[in-house]
Amino acid sequence: MKIFLDTADLGEIRRAVEAGLIDGITTNPSLVSKVAGSKDPKEIYREICETVDGPVSAEVVATDKETMLVEGRKLAALHDNIVVKVPLTEDGLKACRTLANEGIRVNVTLCFSPSQALLAAKAGATFVSPFVGRIDDVSGEGMQLIHQIRQVYDNYGFDTEILAASIRHPMHVVESMLIGADCATIPPKVLWQLVKHPLTDRGLEGFLADWKKLGAEI
Ligand code: G3P
Repeated sequence: MKIFLDTADLGEIRRAVEAGLIDGITTNPSLVSKVAGSKDPKEIYREICETVDGPVSAEVVATDKETMLVEGRKLAALHDNIVVKVPLTEDGLKACRTLANEGIRVNVTLCFSPSQALLAAKAGATFVSPFVGRIDDVSGEGMQLIHQIRQVYDNYGFDTEILAASIRHPMHVVESMLIGADCATIPPKVLWQLVKHPLTDRGLEGFLADWKKLGAEI
């Protein structure tokens, strides 16, 4: 499964790139507004694209098709790694179709149902982003949606990639893998939780204590 980092924070991105753990980046207007300050968001997207050799999702902020197309073409022109993110609305699907026809990769975001995911695939989306955590937030079962989309896409042979999003904890990642999601976009905090296991720590402590008794060096 591909791992994308769900952040616009360059410090966190560099840390994950150094560890060779990520295949791409997803951002959204909220994540960008957290780090932008007075910086032009286009500059932030460029820097991220220079740092990560993989898809970098950058979201349009317009709500009508024509302005989404203008913004989407501008974003795509920033760097080859850019994937244009559009919301799963009627105008978003129309913009997706047009951009896909122009050879621009599109990530259709804010997906909350299998029928929405079907329409994103039919509109030519490269990625669809079902929001698992936000469904859990309203007492729903977010992972059920990943299951359903996987079944729908496999039933009809769609090659749109399922990008599990709004990931809140390591079990969302584990279940996404077991279901067969193509990618998961993970906040930095959750990525580093994936590394941790108490038995690993205890095992290492034991090895080092035994070696210390030896008083030897490698
Ligand atoms: O970037 C899209 C998505 O992963 C954000 O989810 O619910 O953590 O804001 P959330």
